[in-house]
Amino acid sequence: EKELAELVAGGTVDVLDFPKPGIVFKDLMPLFGDGPAFKRVIDGIIAYHDSFDVVAGIEARGFLMAAAIGYSTGAGIVPVRKAGKLPRPAFSASYALEYGEATLEVSEGAFEPGQRVLVVDDVLATGGTAEATLDLIERAGGIVAGFTVLMELGFLDGRQRLSPRPVHALLTV
Ligand code: PRP
Ligand code: MG
Repeated sequence: EKELAELVAGGTVDVLDFPKPGIVFKDLMPLFGDGPAFKRVIDGIIAYHDSFDVVAGIEARGFLMAAAIGYSTGAGIVPVRKAGKLPRPAFSASYALEYGEATLEVSEGAFEPGQRVLVVDDVLATGGTAEATLDLIERAGGIVAGFTVLMELGFLDGRQRLSPRPVHALLTV
């Protein structure tokens, strides 16, 4: 596990004052761009979770992980999309951002009843995105089999917000 944490740390660049002054943006795209490191973290996530039927990725950066896991395991992929993108009726969940509100959506019928869903995203910060996502998956009939992020910003207490549902983070900072 430590090795995976080191890969995530090594593939992350802190960007000061993005998207706003005072914010330190964690840019994990160097990790995604490093083929061997990306493969190892994806394989590590797959190895951690014993059983799931489908992978849900959160737009946009979670899509990159979900696609890799879904391809490698042969599980299907369900997108958790930002509002207004899904063509058919969908469940919606809104959550507060620092300024304003964001909405995520999952198509009705995206899951077979009782399907076990592995949820993935790159970063857990305040947990607003993840909380909305887990709620949507359950409303759409899925069972959350696990939630994994590459990096957790521990000081923001997102894990607490999702409690008692477990969070698996490759690296906590
Ligand atoms: C980032 C990140 C997570 C979310 C975490 O996504 O990729 O999805 O924020 O923040 P939270 O825990 O405080 O909700 P963002 O909304 O910036 O969009 P993107 O993935 O489309 O870049
Ligand atoms: Mg995101």
